[in-house]
Amino acid sequence: MSRTLMFVCLWMAASTCAQADQTSNPPQADVRSPAPPSARASDALADMPLWAYGIATLPQPGDTAKPQGWGRQFNPAMSRDDQLRPVLHVAGSPRTYAPIDLNDWANVVDWFPDEHAPMPEVVQHGSAALGERRRACAFCHRISGGGRPENAPIAGLPVEYFLRQLEDFRSGRRHSTDPRKPNVPTMIEIARAISPDEARAAAEYYAKQSGAPRIRIVESDRVPPLRLRGNLFVATSQERTEPLADRIVELLDGENEQFNDNPHVGYMAYVPRGGIERGRALVAAGTSGAPAAAGTTAQPCTACHGTELHGLGPAPPLAGRSPSYLVRQLYDFKTGSRVGSLAPLMKPVASRLTTQQMTDIAAYIASLP
Ligand code: HEC
Ligand code: HEC
Repeated sequence: MSRTLMFVCLWMAASTCAQADQTSNPPQADVRSPAPPSARASDALADMPLWAYGIATLPQPGDTAKPQGWGRQFNPAMSRDDQLRPVLHVAGSPRTYAPIDLNDWANVVDWFPDEHAPMPEVVQHGSAALGERRRACAFCHRISGGGRPENAPIAGLPVEYFLRQLEDFRSGRRHSTDPRKPNVPTMIEIARAISPDEARAAAEYYAKQSGAPRIRIVESDRVPPLRLRGNLFVATSQERTEPLADRIVELLDGENEQFNDNPHVGYMAYVPRGGIERGRALVAAGTSGAPAAAGTTAQPCTACHGTELHGLGPAPPLAGRSPSYLVRQLYDFKTGSRVGSLAPLMKPVASRLTTQQMTDIAAYIASLP
């Protein structure tokens, strides 16, 4: 039994411990990479929360995505000279950047160098092992670790949890239910390349970041008209004219939605009306009204993730994190796209939740300090 699992057993009810122990060394068939969606009946994904993946249609058999780009990526629709001109500012920053600097995967823009600890090389420039394909962790997860709705908030994660996820990506035990989401194969390529020293340096750096500013949650029936840019929603006007319709929509909070990676600008989320209260009840009650599978108990999230959902032992903190990310992970545990070494603790929990319940739970958890 691994050290972590031993801890889990000390800290959890004996019945669940037996279950965790059993599933920690599952037969070969259970640990292989999940079957690609092409092998799954597509109606099995009929309840997929597409909005959480930032896509508009269900994945189809054979869909895949290649890892994303690297280097300095010029926008072919703009003149090269314009992209090289240092004209970008954000309020209060001593620095000026050119538009191309925002598209440099290997050297992340740093508007407020005095507001964070020195970044390890891998966080600022990416893993040396990837050579010209290196990509800075902070390019996606931001210098603060707050991340963006389409990747992951990684600030304040315990080092052990952080390293376990890198290992799960590396060993093929963590994918996305949507095989078209290109940043997940990119993350997998990074996890395969990163050295143990780089991984630890990144984990230790991000464990100390706050991820601020915190997300602003707004209950609403309506949202502004939206379009997808990559796997991220952007509003095309400010007026709330479209129905929210059981989704959560996360948008950049302010600055006229201008994307210049100002670390003082965070995200806001529209969540369904009444969702926070419904989510609070679900979190307190255990998982859901659905009967627990034989041999398992419906444990409240707080039993494992801590009374304030700030994390406990191997269970990571959840409070205040991106609700789209949370729903995506719950759904990925449910479909078996996340089958890492400790995923067996989450699989029965997530499997009992409907997509609607996941949405309400995420609305509540994201609203917590
Ligand atoms: C292309 C953008 C991108 C880059 C660059 C990137 N990541 Fe990620 N990272 C992701 C995505 C996407 C996910 C998973 C999101 C999902 O599953 O929906 C992720 C997830 C993670 C997680 C798991 C978080 C959790 O709560 O379970 C960790 C840890 C992580 N990344 C660390 C790193 C480190 C360290 C680096 C740099 C060496 C890095 N990432 C670079 C996109 C990126
Ligand atoms: C039996 C213990 C247990 C219970 C109960 C439990 N969790 Fe978890 N949860 C874990 C563990 C352990 C992990 C880490 C899994 C891993 O390393 O892949 C986790 C991971 C997660 C993640 C992924 C976080 C990330 O950063 O990617 C989410 C989201 C989550 N749990 C939500 C919930 C919610 C919501 C509930 C209640 C409905 C819940 N959990 C109940 C043990 C539990």
